[in-house]
Amino acid sequence: MLKTINISKSFPGVKALNEVNLTFYPSKVNAILGENGAGKSTLLKILTGVYTDYEGEIVLNEKTVRFKNIKDAQKAGIAIIHQELNLIPALNIVENLFLGKEIHNSWGLLDTFKMTQITKDLLHKLELNISPTTLVENLKVGEQQLVEIAKALLADAQVILMDEPTSALSDKEIENLHRIIADLKKEGKTIVYISHKMDELFRIADTYMVMRDGNSIDAGEISQTTEQDLIRKMVGREVLIQKKQVSNNDKNTILSINNLTLSHHILKNQNLLDNISFDLKEGEILGIFGLMGAGRTELLQTIFGVNPAKSKGTVSINNQVVSIKAPKDAIKHGMAFVTEDRKTEGLVLGMNVASNISLTSLPENSLLNEKSEQRLAKEYISALAIKTPSAQQLCVNLSGGNQQKVVLAKWLATSPGILMLDEPTRGIDINAKNEIYEIIKKLAGEGKSIILVSSEIPELLALADRILVMAEGKIKAEFPADEANEDKLLKAAI
Ligand SMILES: Nc1ncnc2c1ncn2[C@@H]1O[C@H](COP(=O)(O)OP(=O)(O)OP(=O)(O)O)[C@@H](O)[C@H]1O
Ligand SMILES: [Mg+2]
Repeated sequence: MLKTINISKSFPGVKALNEVNLTFYPSKVNAILGENGAGKSTLLKILTGVYTDYEGEIVLNEKTVRFKNIKDAQKAGIAIIHQELNLIPALNIVENLFLGKEIHNSWGLLDTFKMTQITKDLLHKLELNISPTTLVENLKVGEQQLVEIAKALLADAQVILMDEPTSALSDKEIENLHRIIADLKKEGKTIVYISHKMDELFRIADTYMVMRDGNSIDAGEISQTTEQDLIRKMVGREVLIQKKQVSNNDKNTILSINNLTLSHHILKNQNLLDNISFDLKEGEILGIFGLMGAGRTELLQTIFGVNPAKSKGTVSINNQVVSIKAPKDAIKHGMAFVTEDRKTEGLVLGMNVASNISLTSLPENSLLNEKSEQRLAKEYISALAIKTPSAQQLCVNLSGGNQQKVVLAKWLATSPGILMLDEPTRGIDINAKNEIYEIIKKLAGEGKSIILVSSEIPELLALADRILVMAEGKIKAEFPADEANEDKLLKAAI
């Protein structure tokens, strides 16, 4: 259906793609694998007319095509769900779906009724039970992702490119998406699928293509390979994730949360967090599991002083009640918060790597800053193996996984005593993930206390000493890590 022949693409200082040859088949899920920065997203952007300046050839249905812009690619039947979501927050779902392809009635007026009806049907197909007129800014990341998918369905594309579509979805939503993909396959569509989640690829992909450093390395049938084999092709060597030694609980309590309650911003008698209490010990990694909407992010935000007006309860650090009315108070008390959405909360995308990293730890506008900033940037680019041509590169130009590493670096630079991590390895490749696990374990070993929110159960089981399970704004269960397993955690979360 679709083929790339010797595609090359350079950015200043970076050869992102080097004579890439890939073939995508209809009625199949064609997976592209590769480490952060391997060139996967860049390739998809070339296939969808985002980048028009490249060498090589795209062959669609036996014909060479060269898209002049995004519209061109759309007309040819190629749709993409980008790694970083692209909806317009201030518009509602209907308006986002029909942007640029509005339906008019015979009077020449917008046919809002019809557009709303079509949107309703699409949302129904995706099992997204929300009103079509909901503003996108009020949607969770996972819901926005589904709206992006609705957009591709609306365009009736023959080739659907998905760049890490499940990185922000809950298990139930992932299942839902996989079901939708199976339907699309039956309809003869060509699905191109990028994911760092190996288990998922083995569940849904038919073919694989491995990229490394801008080169196409290998391709084949997924049924003919193994996870270790693919990792070896991606990374060039074996990667083994070592489980953390669970530490005992007789250390000092560093953080105590008492009866923390957060009221809903609209519904007066509903609480987003309901009487949450727990302790965090020195050097402990406390995992928090829950399904999407369980209140995990709200919990971290509230502890960090994001919602002072709507919350009740106390936060104590070293057995002393502290007043945290804003994130800056939390930072003063040695807390750090790696937020879940790097694009809107984690980074200033238009600033370079060095400035982003120093944002949390160096005073603003000091002339002396430049040197310290460079030193800091250099230290973390090497410590976290951030792939960038220089510390001066704008964050918007980094690959998704490397952006995530910059967010981590920014907070590690504050030398926090309490580190809160909200889905810290979202979109991070298996090798980098392992590196980040080692960093988290090392920090705990140095006595830092860590709260780790993750949707990935293997991640929690590998890192946590203790796991709390949340649902509907409450803590529903607590397990010492060596007594927890996937089954127990899911049962408690449901
Ligand atoms: N607009 C740009 N300007 C400069 N460099 C870029 C730009 N876009 C991508 N790059 C660089 O090209 C390389 C490939 O990036 P790309 O985003 O394609 O990686 P990826 O395989 O999608 O990684 P990830 O898994 O982290 O999303 C990286 O080194 C990246 O920094
Ligand atoms: Mg990418």
